[in-house]
Amino acid sequence: MERIGIGFLGCGNIGSGVFRLLEEQGEQIERNEGVTFEVKRVLVRSLQKKRACRVPEELLTDRVDDVLNDPQISIVMEFMGGVEPAASYMIRALSAGKTVITANKMALATRWQDIWEAARKHGAGLYYEASVCGAIPIIRALTDSLQANRIHSVMGIINGTTNYILSRMSSEGAAYEDVLAQAQRLGLAEPDPTADVEGYDAAYKLSILSTLAFHRHVPVECVYREGITEITPLDVQCGKAFGLTLKLLAIAKEEDGRIQVRVHPTFIPDAHPLASVSDSFNAVHIDGHACGEMMFYGRGAGDYPTASALVSDLIKAAKSKRHAWPAVQGEVSQVADDWTCVHFIRMLAVDKPGVLSMVSGKLAEHGVSIASMMQKDRDPHTGYAQLVFLTHRAGERAVRRALSEMDAQMVSQVRIIRVEGDERSI
Ligand code: HSE
Repeated sequence: MERIGIGFLGCGNIGSGVFRLLEEQGEQIERNEGVTFEVKRVLVRSLQKKRACRVPEELLTDRVDDVLNDPQISIVMEFMGGVEPAASYMIRALSAGKTVITANKMALATRWQDIWEAARKHGAGLYYEASVCGAIPIIRALTDSLQANRIHSVMGIINGTTNYILSRMSSEGAAYEDVLAQAQRLGLAEPDPTADVEGYDAAYKLSILSTLAFHRHVPVECVYREGITEITPLDVQCGKAFGLTLKLLAIAKEEDGRIQVRVHPTFIPDAHPLASVSDSFNAVHIDGHACGEMMFYGRGAGDYPTASALVSDLIKAAKSKRHAWPAVQGEVSQVADDWTCVHFIRMLAVDKPGVLSMVSGKLAEHGVSIASMMQKDRDPHTGYAQLVFLTHRAGERAVRRALSEMDAQMVSQVRIIRVEGDERSI
């Protein structure tokens, strides 16, 4: 039986989850996979802190060298989160020829080139299934199972916190702030929710997914990003009237040889498979030229779902005769910023003759065609009403230009939400 020494960098929720899962499943893994894992050292910030697992005290250390310089440790599992010092520690471990297993999307997305260079140069293994969508085997799918494909698009709900918030806004008609506060009370949203609600977390993950899908490094800075903080119950309600569901989507597409990578609130037809993914679940929809459309669904966060992916990486790493590195050549220097899609446009308008013709005229001047329109919530005292339009497919730039030229005496508070999915079903 092969015995493999492993070291932990960090032992918070995720590290504790891995420790417990190894305790619980160790025998089964031994029996099925013919390998035993032994946790040799665990780097922690405080030696005294109470933990969610029973790590023997003698394994704990607050000196990183005790993990990185231990010759008995051949696999380092990184659970620290954040870019530094996690990235530097991973690079040191790889440079010493050790295998690294990580869930750290932020470090991977921002230091991709440095981390992979260290792995390649020293022939070391790097495994990161848990960095995107927790338990869902999406990295393995893109790197191992779908290599024969040209991937047309990857579209996903890859942040559970925002999916929870938008699902509740939709089912309860509640305001963003109220649902966020409720999610924070339940421990489903962080006390500082910025990374999730402003789309940063999804942008890191999309940088990794699009790099693997298109075989070129897509730096996280290339990802267009808009969060969900401005979304109102009225947006959700107007979308419903058109048969649309609102999600924070991460979208990577290759169209006409140009790559688009974007994270923003997106309406999708109620019948789209991603529309039924609610609460804090994640899902990724892939369209490849050979595989066609497929969807992966599951838990994107949490100690055990994340540990499930990390321990799977551990077994894969231990059983690999030769480590595989992703087939990524070069870097994407420019991404498309003028994508084409259906646009949902909502505005507050004075309800008087000539307003509709001004709006449709400006859209027409920029080649934007209206597919449907609705007027809502006319206030008899102010004479204002909500005008809501769905366009046919139109360029982002054309829509923005048309809206910037609208008569401000007639319309204000203009909002755009992009719509994805087959136009025939919208
Ligand atoms: N905060 C993330 C989410 C999980 O809400 O999905 C970790 O990436």
